[in-house]
Amino acid sequence: MSKTKIVVIGVGAVGATTAYTLLLRERADELVLIDANKDKAKGDAIDMNHGLPFVGKTKVWAGDYEDCRGASIIVITAGAAQRPGESRVDLLKRNSAIFDSIIGEVLKHNDDGILLIASNPVDIMSYFTWQKSQWPVRRIIGSGTLLDSARFRYLIGEELGIDPRSVHAHIIGEHGDSELPLWSLANVAGTGIRLDEEKKERIFANTKDAAYEIIAAKGATYYAVALALDRICTAILRDEGAVLNVSTLLRDYHGISDVYLGVPCVVDRGGVREVLQLDLSEREQRELRLSAEKLKELIRSMEG
Ligand code: NAD
Ligand code: LAC
Repeated sequence: MSKTKIVVIGVGAVGATTAYTLLLRERADELVLIDANKDKAKGDAIDMNHGLPFVGKTKVWAGDYEDCRGASIIVITAGAAQRPGESRVDLLKRNSAIFDSIIGEVLKHNDDGILLIASNPVDIMSYFTWQKSQWPVRRIIGSGTLLDSARFRYLIGEELGIDPRSVHAHIIGEHGDSELPLWSLANVAGTGIRLDEEKKERIFANTKDAAYEIIAAKGATYYAVALALDRICTAILRDEGAVLNVSTLLRDYHGISDVYLGVPCVVDRGGVREVLQLDLSEREQRELRLSAEKLKELIRSMEG
């Protein structure tokens, strides 16, 4: 049987936590850590190896880009992160330059894996990666609004006293300030969410601003995103056909094309198999278009 290899590029707060989550959940036979700071990757690999007597058998090592060869999934969490008060799009210039070199290196050694992007602004980084790689869209996946949807489900669950796993609710659009909540489709066991407008507004505001709150409190977010990235890896590795709000290239989706945005997608061994068409209200369609326009404008500003 062929071995499952996952590479994590950028072993900072998000990358290290993601690698550790993948290790605890025994998702891969081989886990490779790559970072511009080689000592950090080396130290993390040694540290994780010392935990192996307590978990299943995973080979973990600090590697180089040649180790991308044969990887099923390459998770990219490298680059600058927001400082308190910064937005995700403030990272655009810094992370575009970093991505240009990282993707160039990856492409030398792998042409059939799946690239899972988490670095921000994640929708634009995923779009640039797709453009540069020329790989099929389905194999370039952004973490999108999966994390935001998890935050949303958690907060609705808290309000209703319902387990968040039983709350079905989606945040779509940019992973960032122009994202939108789909209240029209939110439900528990098919029953609509009955909350007054004020509560709904508070829940969405707390969802959208969660990262700002966490970064102000402790400098970075990493536990929940690591679980979201693990969820996407699992859907791929187990060929699940899971519906996840990841970022993918939209093609005539409510009139939107040529931009990566978070929407419900069917994810399996090949990556994004299908984008689910949603029955959106007029207002939701309008807000989704605004989110797309914002990102397109930023992409144009980088191209010009
Ligand atoms: P961090 O500063 O802790 O880690 C970044 C790591 O990238 C560092 O270890 C650094 O050495 C490494 N790095 C920088 N340039 C590199 C290069 N050229 N090649 C290889 N490694 C390189 O930051 P973090 O908190 O882990 O955040 C990482 C990224 O993830 C940020 O862009 C952040 O905004 C994003 N993020 C995304 C989500 C999401 O939901 N998509 C959630 C949290 C954070
Ligand atoms: C998040 C990051 C910062 O936690 O994008 O949402």
